[in-house]
Amino acid sequence: MKGLILSGGKGTRLRPLTYTSAKQLVPVANKPVLFYTIENLVEAGISEIGIVVGDTAAEVKTAVGSGEKWNAKITYIQQEAPLGLAHAVKISHEFLGDDQFVMYLGDNMLEQSIRPLVEDFKTGKCNCQILLKEVTNPQSYGVAVLAGDRVVKLVEKPADPPSNLALVGVYMFDHNIFTAVNEIKPSWRGELEITDAIQYLVTNGYNVKPFVVEGWWVDTGKQADMLEVNRLILDRLERNVSCYVDKDSRVEGKVVIEQSAEIINSVVRGPTIIGRGCRIINSYVGPYTSINHNCTISDSEVEHSIILENSQIHDIPSRIEDSLIGRNVVVEKSPIKPKALKLLLGDNSRVGIL
Ligand code: G1P
Repeated sequence: MKGLILSGGKGTRLRPLTYTSAKQLVPVANKPVLFYTIENLVEAGISEIGIVVGDTAAEVKTAVGSGEKWNAKITYIQQEAPLGLAHAVKISHEFLGDDQFVMYLGDNMLEQSIRPLVEDFKTGKCNCQILLKEVTNPQSYGVAVLAGDRVVKLVEKPADPPSNLALVGVYMFDHNIFTAVNEIKPSWRGELEITDAIQYLVTNGYNVKPFVVEGWWVDTGKQADMLEVNRLILDRLERNVSCYVDKDSRVEGKVVIEQSAEIINSVVRGPTIIGRGCRIINSYVGPYTSINHNCTISDSEVEHSIILENSQIHDIPSRIEDSLIGRNVVVEKSPIKPKALKLLLGDNSRVGIL
């Protein structure tokens, strides 16, 4: 069985971070979302993986490479324009051949292992398997209507949802999906929808099996989703503090701090991860914070936030919370008069000031 990861898309809801990086490469607990996806496939025994890439192809290729680090073989498939998930399947036909495959959206994170589902699908009892999860906002997703364990109907982002069962971005298909993606027409948003392709399978008598997932599922498109999944992943941490902690500091709970970091006169309270080369000085780092490599935090307080590489936070009088801070960012108290807020913000930035 093969894997197909979709890693295109513009990531508009995560701007400005996604002006300079693919949304699938934004890290959760200091690891890109896309890496979790690859790990989940490999863990399920799938090592031949195609990644469909778009405008951010170069960054994705640099980050993932040939797949060696996961003992996987990665093939990149270029999608010229974001024409939909079913279009991505269409252009991947040559890579997939007639093999069964798992399609995994590169921005989706799932708590449970897909291994048992993959094993079951391999037996060939059905043509397609979909994963579903009850949600409170079904209008934001593809939605399925079931009768017992039969799929009756699927609709993409319905204004008036017929159920609260959302389609999780993990699907299993056999070769019949190629007939479906070639038959369907673009939706109102101009995309070939995978939801419509699966509806085609249902309508034409193919066996589509639903599976309602038990654990958590997060589609990481927005800041709040990133913070939520960061929380869920940090909760699984095992404490590992191997860095220099001075005698005036306290490091409490489930905390991972890489070796070359330094904690000086500070309190770090887990679950929290702090990357290599970071310096935390006269500061407080609170629960559910991920600080990526080479950041410096001095005379400040940070909690429930994600901070990417090489950023600095100095001398901020209020606690920073619920924040997503990009790479090479400097947040500091203005050193010179006049006493004023001095901002240099990218397009689509958001700042909350007390
Ligand atoms: C896509 C699918 C949708 C599915 C969702 C899961 O939506 O079209 O059916 O529920 O992924 O993440 P999109 O991310 O394109 O809005």
